[in-house]
Amino acid sequence: MKTEFTAQTEITPQLEKKIVAIAERYHKEPHQLMRILLDIQKVTSNAIPREVAIVVSRVTGIPEAKLYGFVSFYAMISPAPRGKYVIRMCESAPCHVTGAVAVMESIIKTLGIQPGETSRDGRFTLEYCQCLGVCESSPAILVNDMIYKNLTPGRAATLIEDYMRGDVS
Ligand code: FES
Repeated sequence: MKTEFTAQTEITPQLEKKIVAIAERYHKEPHQLMRILLDIQKVTSNAIPREVAIVVSRVTGIPEAKLYGFVSFYAMISPAPRGKYVIRMCESAPCHVTGAVAVMESIIKTLGIQPGETSRDGRFTLEYCQCLGVCESSPAILVNDMIYKNLTPGRAATLIEDYMRGDVS
């Protein structure tokens, strides 16, 4: 459960410029707040920590508390800095009965981190999530925006190793 915006991202002038440029889209596309925040995450630490939220709030006029409510509700956005790759294992029932537990154990072993943790090199964050909408091809995981389906422990380990080697970007 996310409790509050964290304060761990240094906002350099260059980074602030990028955040402002993306956040300004809100004035033309107010219904695209999720897309805008996801795009901002791509230039921050894969998160919307407090410093970033302050900039977004200033540019969009959305109160910081309302932004926090949005950020804390959706699993795709986080107030806490995360790895370059956020790996989410679906833990909903269809994936659970088709082997999600064994797949997750394989990912944990390959990455050497537990759910909720980020690897020491800052590249990988591991999380659980709810249904990804591909139950017919379960078990499934999400790596940033990419869904991987029909996983086995072996296929999951190979996939994660590909990311670790940089063979997938
Ligand atoms: S339950 Fe896992 S994708 Fe639907």
